[in-house]
Amino acid sequence: MARPHIEPFVELNEGYKKFKIPGFVGADYKTLSLDVDNGACSLKVRMRDGFKRPPGLCYSDLEIFVLTGELNVGEEICREGHYIFLPAGMALEAMSAPKGCELIMMYNDSEPSFEESDANHKLALKEGFVSVNSYEDMPWAGGSIVSPSVATGVFLKLLRFDPLTEAMTFLYTMSPEFIQDNISYHDCAEESYHIWGESWMMQFGDLPTGGYFWRPSYINHGAFRSKLGCIALGRTDSKLHNYFHFNPWSNPDENKSRAAAFLYRQRPQLYKWVHMQGGHNHPHGQAEHVGAAPAPDDFENPEYVDHPQTKMLADQTCTFHEMDHLHDKDAIAAAHKFAHENGIAHGHDHSGADHTHDDDEY
Ligand SMILES: [Fe+2]
Repeated sequence: MARPHIEPFVELNEGYKKFKIPGFVGADYKTLSLDVDNGACSLKVRMRDGFKRPPGLCYSDLEIFVLTGELNVGEEICREGHYIFLPAGMALEAMSAPKGCELIMMYNDSEPSFEESDANHKLALKEGFVSVNSYEDMPWAGGSIVSPSVATGVFLKLLRFDPLTEAMTFLYTMSPEFIQDNISYHDCAEESYHIWGESWMMQFGDLPTGGYFWRPSYINHGAFRSKLGCIALGRTDSKLHNYFHFNPWSNPDENKSRAAAFLYRQRPQLYKWVHMQGGHNHPHGQAEHVGAAPAPDDFENPEYVDHPQTKMLADQTCTFHEMDHLHDKDAIAAAHKFAHENGIAHGHDHSGADHTHDDDEY
């Protein structure tokens, strides 16, 4: 069981709890989201004046973002906007916060843990370590890092990209009077903390300063609007693809089926192979079967499976030439004739002496 959908959640309305586990005493936390099975969680953390801990490691990937105050890590002073990605098992230098600080801490794989150590665990992927002040040392870039893209008026700072899963952590802004009029969903889970400002979404209303969401995959969100603008810390747990549409009533299962229909259309051979490998674990849509792989339903394009282009790509034994004979459309027949007259190969062998085209109407 992954983390449940939490949206919107406004942490400023909640009180802090005291940490009692080793390495955290002297700090307080608010839980933003939690996977109750493996303990993975995102927390807002307040390190009280004088917080200190020795060098040590954690058994989960850990992301730290400094919201206010200063966090000392070894000799480095991490101020507002500082971002750290600490791979699981990598030892971080001693931490202290002489005057206190507020952080977002994301434990991506398991519960918060701390083991005093100045050496890395032998399996630590230390090359993944990131430490950067995102406010001072990174420029804003356009928001269209994936296609199809969000509307103009979004800017990004990409803090971390995982080459294996394509998970991303990023700062983003919406400009004042930002508007995006469509609805989106993704294959990935999406997480956001509003550092400052507000945004609005059709399904979930206003998200103010201190607002947070953990949104599992395939949940509709949008249209969007931001009256005054916002700056937020965002994260995905895998590849972000924007599936856009305008149907506010579609549910996550319908959205997932439509996403599978994209795969069916765009990478039909991969879809077919996955289907063959996956046995019976496939969507049982009402759409027509092509070859051995069933076509998933697409609420936006319910007839897509009958489109000749889709049929040809989905079933490599079905050619345009066969389409000619099946449908005998004038335009396709003309293309067929042109191919014959110009010796262009188009799907079958013309060398046989017994081959005739009695059924062609040129
Ligand atoms: Fe999204």
